[in-house]
Amino acid sequence: MSFTEEIKRRRTFAIISHPDAGKTTLTEKLLLFGGAIQVAGAVKSNKIRKTATSDFMEIERQRGISVATSVMGFEYSNTKINILDTPGHEDFAEDTYRTLTAVDSVIIVIDAAKGVETQTRRLMNVCRMRNTPVIVFINKMDRPAKDPFDLLDEIEKELSIHVRPLSWPIGMGDTFQGVYNIFEEKLNLFASIDKQRVQDTIELKDIHSKVLEQHIGEKSAARLREDLELIDGVYPSFHQEDYLEALIAPVFFGSALNNFGVKELLDCFIQIAPVPRCYESVQRRVCPEESKFSGFVFKIHANIDPNHRDRIAFLRIVSGQFERNTNYHHVRLGKDFKFSSPTAFMANKKSVIDEAWAGDVIGLYDSGNFKIGDTLTDGETLQYKGIPSFSPELFRYVENADPMKYKQLAKGIDQLMDEGVAQLFTLKANGRKVIGTVGQLQFEVIQFRLLHEYGASCRYEPLNMYKACWIVGDNKEELDEFRKRKFQYLATDKDGREVFLAESSYSLDMAREKFPSINFYFTSEF
Ligand code: G4P
Repeated sequence: MSFTEEIKRRRTFAIISHPDAGKTTLTEKLLLFGGAIQVAGAVKSNKIRKTATSDFMEIERQRGISVATSVMGFEYSNTKINILDTPGHEDFAEDTYRTLTAVDSVIIVIDAAKGVETQTRRLMNVCRMRNTPVIVFINKMDRPAKDPFDLLDEIEKELSIHVRPLSWPIGMGDTFQGVYNIFEEKLNLFASIDKQRVQDTIELKDIHSKVLEQHIGEKSAARLREDLELIDGVYPSFHQEDYLEALIAPVFFGSALNNFGVKELLDCFIQIAPVPRCYESVQRRVCPEESKFSGFVFKIHANIDPNHRDRIAFLRIVSGQFERNTNYHHVRLGKDFKFSSPTAFMANKKSVIDEAWAGDVIGLYDSGNFKIGDTLTDGETLQYKGIPSFSPELFRYVENADPMKYKQLAKGIDQLMDEGVAQLFTLKANGRKVIGTVGQLQFEVIQFRLLHEYGASCRYEPLNMYKACWIVGDNKEELDEFRKRKFQYLATDKDGREVFLAESSYSLDMAREKFPSINFYFTSEF
């Protein structure tokens, strides 16, 4: 296979959802179709969590929460599929945001009874920031669900994206009979007795054919025809370009648990989903087919073996081909590194690979040289953009609890911040350190990891803040005045950038009003 063909057959994406919508179940079913795992029947969702590659952190085993992000690769219809797993727990949302920098598209899972939920909304905002193409899978149609038209309206309104159903449900819950696959013009009937598989797939190019009545009865047939007519009238016809430009989200209905609608989703996905994309670097735009290798680290995974404090840096290959035992340039450190055992992730197994192509994600063993956002190249000085920090929402002062272990604590905090576990701010007024997170759980994770991996103990002190905003202004006088007035709320982030810790949304609004020339940003990249 040629170099370009290798790249073009790759589809790298993430499945995202509000917790409990069915992300794990859908992931597992996709792996089953890809032959990557062999488990008969429906497997309980947390089972895969316990055997998944993502599950190697001790804390994770203890808590049963999928903290880590990992990659599941498999072959399907001559396509190399890379699914990037994202944490199931919303306290680790920032991890998910970063993973989204390494994918070319996403599938959003929505619970048919609950519709759009908080986390769906947040994740979609991140996709929108990057124009990531999105497919929506409306799950749990075997249960009582909201009206499908209402769901589509809700998605359009709440997620600010146009939709186009490519399959349509016939009934729901107890009366769920299956879906009409608009994309392939087929009728997929849901088995009424054995609900574990598609009972029948019937070609049905002409929706007015009497065959429809034979299968789903007169009433449902009439309703389906009416619905499809309405869909054609209301929603624009589907064009792949609109989806690729993130202007429209194709929508599928199904039931992941029952393995229903999943194959159709996968078959359509490999036809329409984007191939590896170009990335912007500070220096220039870099495209996958370029012969020279480059990539960036979007995730660092630590504590695989607590005795060795090994870390795995997850690298998304942006261009060219990666080869084992070859020298590559670590741009930030200005040094060359060779990797003797780079790993690829096939389903729930890791294996050493000799080569990988643009679009793939590989794991590199790391003894502390990598930070999130680091770039590795064939020699060129490139620095990829687009791995922003998001404003944390919870803050605490962090203090050393063991005077003998000051150094360990400093090192531990430093490394955990490099991994992107949380963000560290230093107050300008008194040099106190503040840790900011998006979830309560991270504070516990940090304390646990500092103790178990670095032998250091820390203590937290409460700090009530609303958000951390990166500030920039070109009116020096106003900026100086702001700095003087808000001195006690000013801090620097890990890169020395100026941050304003706003006490409340009111105080932020007031600051915006009084200092109109200053921009307050909720992400570190603007
Ligand atoms: P998540 O990763 O998005 O958090 O969701 P997960 O797949 O773990 O699914 C959450 C729950 O929803 C699980 O039930 C799962 O079995 C169920 N589920 C997923 N897809 C469907 C579906 O199509 N229909 C129905 N009826 N249920 C579905 P649980 O009871 O919370 O866990 P478990 O004990 O079954 O694993």
